[in-house]
Amino acid sequence: MSMHPGEPWSRGVRRRDDGVVEVAGLGVHELAAQVGTPAYVLDETDFRARARAYRTAFETAFRAVGTDVDVYYAGKALLTVAVARWAREEGLRVDTASGGELAVALRAGIPGTEIGLHGNNKSDAELDRALEVGVGRIIVDSLVEIDRVAAAARARGVVAPVMVRVTTGVHAGGHEYISTAHEDQKFGLSIAAPRGSGVDSDAPGDSPAMTALLDVVRRPELHLLGIHSHIGSQILDPTGFEVAARAVLELRADLAARTGVLVDEVDIGGGYGIAYLPGEVALDPERIAKDVAGAVDAVAARLGTPLPRFSIEPGRAIVGPAGLTLYTVGTVKPVALDDGRVRTYVSVDGGMSDNIRPALYGAQYHAEVVGRASVAAPVLARVVGKHCESGDIVVHEVMLPGDVRAGDLLAVPATGAYGRSMASNYNLLTRPPVVAVSDGTARVLVRRETVDDLLALDQG
Ligand SMILES: Cc1ncc(COP(=O)(O)O)c(C=O)c1O
Repeated sequence: MSMHPGEPWSRGVRRRDDGVVEVAGLGVHELAAQVGTPAYVLDETDFRARARAYRTAFETAFRAVGTDVDVYYAGKALLTVAVARWAREEGLRVDTASGGELAVALRAGIPGTEIGLHGNNKSDAELDRALEVGVGRIIVDSLVEIDRVAAAARARGVVAPVMVRVTTGVHAGGHEYISTAHEDQKFGLSIAAPRGSGVDSDAPGDSPAMTALLDVVRRPELHLLGIHSHIGSQILDPTGFEVAARAVLELRADLAARTGVLVDEVDIGGGYGIAYLPGEVALDPERIAKDVAGAVDAVAARLGTPLPRFSIEPGRAIVGPAGLTLYTVGTVKPVALDDGRVRTYVSVDGGMSDNIRPALYGAQYHAEVVGRASVAAPVLARVVGKHCESGDIVVHEVMLPGDVRAGDLLAVPATGAYGRSMASNYNLLTRPPVVAVSDGTARVLVRRETVDDLLALDQG
């Protein structure tokens, strides 16, 4: 048996001596025969290991500075009943961002108290359902939402546990972060004070974040649990987390100075980066946990405030590398480029409907022929889907064996996050199944959609 090929593949992926790849002990031919292609394939052991690694790293680092941490698995990355259960069995809670995600988490048996509800435009029905099932926290995202949550809580006769989502001006993603005062995006409430909106027109007024916190504090229907900050996605440099966490702790101290309320919790969000391509290095949970714990410890000491309990919301870092998409190659077409090179277009049986990320924001992926060995010289290839759209690209540029041909099984690694969860029915393709593999056995977690499913929605 050959070695695990390393990142970006899940740890249960091996290429056998005969060149055939297996996932968690199950060869890709058996897998394709059992569930068909395209299919999202999840390595359950790898998912669990990553969930544990994040929990252990953050617990260890934050306990070392005298506080504790809760890890919420961000269900937006991929949520199925089984996946939510795996997360819980590994000691994680579940973060949801809609009534649909909330419903799946509840069906998985996650207690309401271990669920968070996000969203910049939650409906009244979503808020009411969240209160009905007693979610542990509703993360408020705008000033008007405070009224709506309070009204929903009043109607139910409960006190709603609330966090306020703030924007710290830190944007992060990829290898760098930028820091600005005001953020031009729809999420959260800025901690930057607008000038000239105070009582004295030259004085700075309260920031939207402070205004929201003060408003929540004075409402009897709301209990202010804490402050939430999420700075971006696919972050590979921990600096942004440290800068944002410091800003949140300063805001917390300001609120305490003004109201006497020192909130108990701070959430620093998700966004921990993974390897999508060979040679890329994922953010190390132990390093980021230590760096952030050290930074918040120092700032809390400077501010003279005890540390709050922390929470984080990783999604991609848990499920992304645990998943791959298995496709079957159809047509193969060499195209002559103006610069004299040839690009081989390799069409697979899915495309932008099962992975929109390359088309949406130029995300880069890797691909390999996984059903056999090849000694053919590699060629420059582009893996494309079967949709009526020239931007229907799965892998922009990758070297594939020159004899790649119809019927080959091709796998794209690191598609566990934001693949199925962002999938569409474009061209009325049916969405692929989500299949878990462990100990050589495949289990369908979400079945493949059928044309009958599509027709059932169409009322004629
Ligand atoms: C509030 C919040 N938390 C957590 C996440 C999860 O991010 P990731 O999957 O990159 O860890 C997101 C992603 O958009 C988010 O908006």
